[in-house]
Amino acid sequence: MSLKGKVAVVTGAGGLIGKEIVRRFAAEGARVAAVDLVVSRQLAALVRELETGGANVIAEALDITKSADAAAVFRDIESRLGAVDILVNNAGIVRKQSRAFHLEKEECWKRLIEVNLFGSMICTRCVLGGMIARKSGKIINIASIAGVSGLPGWADYAASKGGLILFSRTLAMETGNSGITVNCISPGMISAERTPSEGTWLGRTGTPADIAGMALFLASPEADYITGCNYLVDGGRTIGPKNATWNI
Ligand SMILES: NC(=O)c1ccc[n+]([C@@H]2O[C@H](COP(=O)([O-])OP(=O)(O)OC[C@H]3O[C@@H](n4cnc5c(N)ncnc54)[C@H](O)[C@@H]3O)[C@@H](O)[C@H]2O)c1
Repeated sequence: MSLKGKVAVVTGAGGLIGKEIVRRFAAEGARVAAVDLVVSRQLAALVRELETGGANVIAEALDITKSADAAAVFRDIESRLGAVDILVNNAGIVRKQSRAFHLEKEECWKRLIEVNLFGSMICTRCVLGGMIARKSGKIINIASIAGVSGLPGWADYAASKGGLILFSRTLAMETGNSGITVNCISPGMISAERTPSEGTWLGRTGTPADIAGMALFLASPEADYITGCNYLVDGGRTIGPKNATWNI
């Protein structure tokens, strides 16, 4: 088990991707704190299921945009599980419907940036001092291909994720000589099940397992020499135009 003895925190743990990351990390032997806005019945059931299987998993409620609450929750996690080795900033929000930027309400894009960027920065700050003191740690930020390519109708979301990618790169520079790695994963279209999709070169949407697999790799010793990277896990959606004519 590649994460045996490690303590991991996963935010947005009750969501589609977060749940799978918690599952995968627990299966690899990590002690996991599953953090979300509320501990939903579903999240509590996941924790019970993993505990029954012998894993050490706890659930904590936290709005990641609240600095003081975050500090208290991370202190509680460290007292229950031990010092945090791995942080996955996965919590994020997105508008369901596209909207031209100039028509979007200011409070909507402020909240979006507050959760997706500021919230990830707050959680990062909660673990960074300890990681620097111990000279080890892995921070994995879940961004989006929208933060690389842009996404018309979701300018605020793209800005929040683009900011997260540059935050991660810069933090990788600041913390490299403290033995800490900081990387991003930028998912493309992810759905609960593999679904046929014309929008990707692999012809399907991604699944939470596709993202959890990459998160596990980045959290594991196999990725010790990787920092400042942004892995696009998108079935090739961003590698080039899908409908170009070509002959082989
Ligand atoms: N699903 C996709 O297609 C896709 C594509 C690209 C990027 N992403 C990114 O992946 C991450 C996970 O996405 P998902 O599809 O699992 O979303 P999801 O909505 O299923 O889960 C997100 C979770 O974050 C939690 N959350 C929201 N605001 C929070 C806050 N203030 N504090 C704490 N928790 C909060 C929610 O309660 C939810 O459980 C997000 O950052 C998202 O932007 C998803």
